[in-house]
Amino acid sequence: MTKAIPVRKFDAIIVGAGGAGLRAALQLSEAGMKTAVLSKVFPTRSHTVAAQGGVSASLGNSEPDHWTWHMYDTVKGSDWLGDQDAIEFMCREAPNVVIELEHYGMPFDRNSDGTIYQRPFGGHMSNFGEKPVRRACAAADRTGHAMLHALYQRNVRANTQFFVEWMALDLIRDEKGNVQGVVAMEMETSEIVIFQAKATLFATGGAGRIYSSSTNAFINTGDGLGMAARAGVPLEDMEFWQFHPTGVAGAGVLITEGVRGEGGILRNSDGERFMERYAPNAKDLASRDVVSRAMVTEINEGRGCGPNKDHVLLDITHLDPEVIMSKLPGIREISIKFAGVDPIKAPIPVVPTCHYQMGGIPTNYKGEVVVGAEIVKGFYAAGECACASVHGANRLGTNSLLDLLVFGKSSGNSMIDFIKSAPKDLPEVAMADVERSVARVARLDNQTNGTNVNDARLAMQRTMQAHAGVFRFNDMLKEGVKKILEVEQMVKTTMIADKSKTFNTARLEALELENLIEVAKATMISAEARKESRGAHVRDDALDVPETPNGRDDANWLKHTLWHREDNRLEYKPVNLQPLTAPSVALKTRSY
Ligand code: FUM
Repeated sequence: MTKAIPVRKFDAIIVGAGGAGLRAALQLSEAGMKTAVLSKVFPTRSHTVAAQGGVSASLGNSEPDHWTWHMYDTVKGSDWLGDQDAIEFMCREAPNVVIELEHYGMPFDRNSDGTIYQRPFGGHMSNFGEKPVRRACAAADRTGHAMLHALYQRNVRANTQFFVEWMALDLIRDEKGNVQGVVAMEMETSEIVIFQAKATLFATGGAGRIYSSSTNAFINTGDGLGMAARAGVPLEDMEFWQFHPTGVAGAGVLITEGVRGEGGILRNSDGERFMERYAPNAKDLASRDVVSRAMVTEINEGRGCGPNKDHVLLDITHLDPEVIMSKLPGIREISIKFAGVDPIKAPIPVVPTCHYQMGGIPTNYKGEVVVGAEIVKGFYAAGECACASVHGANRLGTNSLLDLLVFGKSSGNSMIDFIKSAPKDLPEVAMADVERSVARVARLDNQTNGTNVNDARLAMQRTMQAHAGVFRFNDMLKEGVKKILEVEQMVKTTMIADKSKTFNTARLEALELENLIEVAKATMISAEARKESRGAHVRDDALDVPETPNGRDDANWLKHTLWHREDNRLEYKPVNLQPLTAPSVALKTRSY
């Protein structure tokens, strides 16, 4: 049966058309490689489009800045879990990739001297943590939108081939474990096709949809992580999830940190600027994990706002309306539409909302997927689905768009080298993974008695929200592991009522859920095991004592987690504290 599956051949296949996928594709296509990009949505609707506040680079357009300061902030933001070789690479490359974008025609805002406009952001400081610095290069509050359009247009010019509304189902590995491409399904017709290539990149974005409340798009279902896990690749540092401080209360839609960069202030029900108590130096512009925890503490201690005292307020009523209209027009629109509030006149109700996954598919800074000491031949990952690891236990705002550009480009370069060194003709496709993938779809089509997909997804999201949120507790995590393994059993028997083959979104959602559940298990199991507080992972039983300040336990836990799907086994690997050329950023207690 599987013999009849059509095979399409390329030099390179990229799964995902967000910033990382498009930046890699551009590198490949401009080098003359036959490149296919598969995307569930039209490329300019990928989730990068939702990034608002900016992309970080130490251009120093408004005041002195330096990539070593950016590196210091990123290591500190990561709570020292980030690998310092990758962090140096990213921060050093930042000015180059941003200027490249400018040359591609990206419409950045401008200073009066014509240089790119930069705004302050959380955790961005000058001179190794001294005072806030303007490092976020912005196109109003629609930076991701502008970036995605610039990259897409450039790819069209470079003849990248787009397969729009195609969902990749599984990775194809040969007997030696080398990657040969992916099995994919055309969403309109349900046709299954093998996409074979010398090099395959996953740039599938995040999986924020494992939580009930998320700033992520509905397409962010961890497809790359699910596929990698099923193919035997472990997932790294999945316990670390960023909760963005300012999601619109009740709706989850993102209100950019750029609002605080432009002078916005968080207030509790007493009208108090409470961040002064939690982060006396950086205040509202402390790192995201710090601000989110402060907000939840205010709410838990009864100083929340509204009839249910379940949110705090983001106040920009003191700003010049001109600044709001020109620098934050999208935010005003979102506030009016989703909170019913015009921020020129009244503060916006906000709560911390799941925003970003720091962990992912383990790679080096060249985008090569690394398992143990081995590079998986022909397999690359970049962007939010990858763990390079530059964000460690907590990502700094605007380092995500930077990550896409830097590691999209470096993956593209690594793939070009690999393709050039590979034999000219592609080998026979190994069918074992293809057959497993086809069987997965067939199981769904044949299941007549089982679990409703929506019920299973809700059970997963509620479990994640309740048991692995901003603050974590030992018993809650233990219970969470038990519950998520029960949800996994529900996912194994999901059924769809509609078996038609034409644009069957029920089938697609069921397949997406099979990816989400892998991410959810990896998260819960990794989080339960990490018995310390670090960055976004904070446990009540991790003690703030001199040996473990803020609950961080470097003696026992300065290491990356690796979760293996086949037996839920965890292993650990050391953090790379050695940069490429710069001095190492020495461990110290983190405060803002
Ligand atoms: O707040 C924001 O604009 C989000 C930026 C980011 O996550 O990097």
